[in-house]
Amino acid sequence: MKKVLVTGGLGFIGSHTVVELQNEGFEVIIIDNLSNSSIEVLDKITSITGIKPEYHNIDLKDKLAVKIFFEHHPVDGIIHFAASKAVGESVQMPLEYYENNIGSLVYILQELKANNLNNFIFSSSCTVYGQADELPITENAPIKPAESPYGNTKQIGEEIIKDATKVSNLKAIALRYFNPIGAHESAKIGELPIGVPQNLIPFVVQTAAGIREELSVFGSDYDTPDGTAVRDYIHVVDLAKAHIVALRRLIENNNKAQFEIFNLGTGKGNSVLEVIQSFEKVTGKKVNYKLVDRRAGDITAAYADTNYANDELGWKTELSLDDALLSAWKWQETLK
Ligand code: WQD
Repeated sequence: MKKVLVTGGLGFIGSHTVVELQNEGFEVIIIDNLSNSSIEVLDKITSITGIKPEYHNIDLKDKLAVKIFFEHHPVDGIIHFAASKAVGESVQMPLEYYENNIGSLVYILQELKANNLNNFIFSSSCTVYGQADELPITENAPIKPAESPYGNTKQIGEEIIKDATKVSNLKAIALRYFNPIGAHESAKIGELPIGVPQNLIPFVVQTAAGIREELSVFGSDYDTPDGTAVRDYIHVVDLAKAHIVALRRLIENNNKAQFEIFNLGTGKGNSVLEVIQSFEKVTGKKVNYKLVDRRAGDITAAYADTNYANDELGWKTELSLDDALLSAWKWQETLK
């Protein structure tokens, strides 16, 4: 049974990926320092799959702890989610973001080299494209100067990994997520925003649940069909499954380069108002909202060109925006 380390495995995308890995027969080890996740998620994963993942509470900024872990765990693959990921927060505390997201990445890569562990999947983001000049966005779209330290850590992270593959047997794939949303069909795991949600879908479901008074729609004067910004909202379960496909590609040596990059999206863009309409349709719930000014740093539109991931990875999304929004609502209904 292949053994896979999932860092950040108790987080939103990490936990959904652990479930899919276990469903596919992988033995999973989770490292998570609980800085942006809850230990309850471990039991939730177990209740879904019937298998309790091995768990280590390690802070990946602890160089010695990382060294000791990899000396004792010769894993067949690593999926690296653990990172700070709040765009706005990263502007306020850039050094913490660079220390956490870059420092821990370097420590992990050093130990992979030292222990000749070579199959590495990196959680990246469409943020690296900024406002792309052409839509849909392909993997060859130019990287734009990062609009936030968070986005910069993803750009720098990819560069570091590419350089690391040149001096070792490391094979790596960076997966550039568009907008991950939704929850597992069991409604036992989902997105757990801490405090006031920054992202759209958690705010929508909390508004529908009466936790938030009203959703502010940031900007209605964009150059889009209805004036509100457009994004590519991908169901987190589809996203999780893409990680297993990418991991198998490396384990089975089907990669065509030491470092590969894939966009993970649906290929379809939806505006904020379309998301609200879809949510109200599938849930029957009303979402109170008001149109307000744009949010600083937001782009007009982004959605993926999925041809490379579809053809080369042999993966495509199967779940719709409606499926994702309904699953997000069912998850919200389980939260006290
Ligand atoms: C989506 C749309 C907002 C909240 C961010 C990160 C990206 C990735 C996904 C990590 C935008 C609008 C939002 C609200 C709104 N995260 N909105 N009212 O900004 O596209 O991407 O999350 O990898 O890196 O940048 O996602 O969900 O914040 O916003 O109108 O209360 O919803 O303006 O148009 P975003 P988002």
